[in-house]
Amino acid sequence: MPTSSDRPVPAGTPDAQAAGQPMVAAPPGAPAAGPPQRPPAVLRLDDVAAGYGAAPIVSGVSISVGSGEVVSVIGPNGAGKSTLLKTVTGRLPVMAGTITFGDRDVTNMRGNRLARMGLGFVPQTRDVFDTLTVAENLEMGGYLLSKSQIAARVDTVLSVFPALAGMQSRTASKLSGGERKMLAMARVLMLEPSVLVLDEPTSNLSPDLSRSVLRDQVRRLADAGTAVLLVEQKAFEALGVSDWAYILVAGRVEIAGPAEDILARPDIREVFLGRSSNADEAAGG
Ligand SMILES: Nc1ncnc2c1ncn2[C@@H]1O[C@H](COP(=O)(O)OP(=O)(O)OP(=O)(O)O)[C@@H](O)[C@H]1O
Ligand SMILES: [Mg+2]
Repeated sequence: MPTSSDRPVPAGTPDAQAAGQPMVAAPPGAPAAGPPQRPPAVLRLDDVAAGYGAAPIVSGVSISVGSGEVVSVIGPNGAGKSTLLKTVTGRLPVMAGTITFGDRDVTNMRGNRLARMGLGFVPQTRDVFDTLTVAENLEMGGYLLSKSQIAARVDTVLSVFPALAGMQSRTASKLSGGERKMLAMARVLMLEPSVLVLDEPTSNLSPDLSRSVLRDQVRRLADAGTAVLLVEQKAFEALGVSDWAYILVAGRVEIAGPAEDILARPDIREVFLGRSSNADEAAGG
C-alpha cells in the first residue's frame, strides 16, 4: 500500500490524532502553539458506518474520546449525530468499522453489556421513567448494584446534583425541564460510567440553564475524569466547554480539531454557530 509521510491524513482519523496534529488550520494571526495533547482514547471509532436500512446514514466515521475530555459532535439537523450515538451505545448495529472501549473490541456489543462495562448514555428523549419518583429513577439507574451500594451511590450522585436532593419523592413527570435533565444524568451516573454519552442534554432548556448544565455539570464530570461524548444543537456553548470537536456533515466527519480552534474559525462560526446560536436565542432556549 503506497504511503507518503506528507500525505494529509483525513480529518478525525486516529492516524491524525496519533500524529498529534492539530487538524484544523490555525486562523491567521493566531499565536503559534504546539500540537494539542490528547489523552489516550477510552472510546474510539474507526471507519464506522451505520444506519437503519441497507444504506448507511453515517460512514467512514473515526472519532475518539479520552478520560477527562469533553468531545463534541456538532453538525446540521439530520447529519446523523443521534444515529452515531445510538451506534456507539449499542442501540444500532455497526455495518462497517470497529468500536473499541478501553482495549476491548466492542463492535456490535449490545447496550446493556456496554453499560456494565461503564458506558453511560443519556438519550435525547425518554431519558427518565416518567411515572417513577426521583428516588426510584436513581435506584433503577443503579440496577446492577446491591441495596447498600445503591444507597451509597444515591448519596454521591445527589451531592453532584444537590437540587435533586430535596425532591426525591417527586414524580419525574412533575419535574421542570432542567430538573428532568439533571435526573437523567444522575440516573446514568449511578453506575459510575467511565464514558458518558450525551445526546443534546440542553434541549428544551433556557439559555441560562443550558450554560449551567454544560459548564457546571458536563464540564465538571470531565474534570473529575469522565470521558464525555457530547452532541449538542447549541454548538457555540458546546464548543465552549469542549476540548475537541468533530463536525459531522451528511454522515461524515468533515472537520476535527481542538474546540478552541474550531470556535475561532470564521467560516465555521458562520455556517454552524451563527445559525444555531441565533436559533437558540430566537427560540428562547
Ligand atoms: N429510526 C429511523 N429510521 C430511519 N431513518 C432514520 C431513523 N432515525 C433517523 N433517521 C434518519 O437518519 C438521518 C440522520 O438522523 P439523526 O437523527 O441521526 O440526525 P441528527 O444529526 O441527530 O439530527 P438533529 O440535529 O435534528 O437531532 C435523517 O435523515 C433521519 O431521517
Ligand atoms: Mg439528533
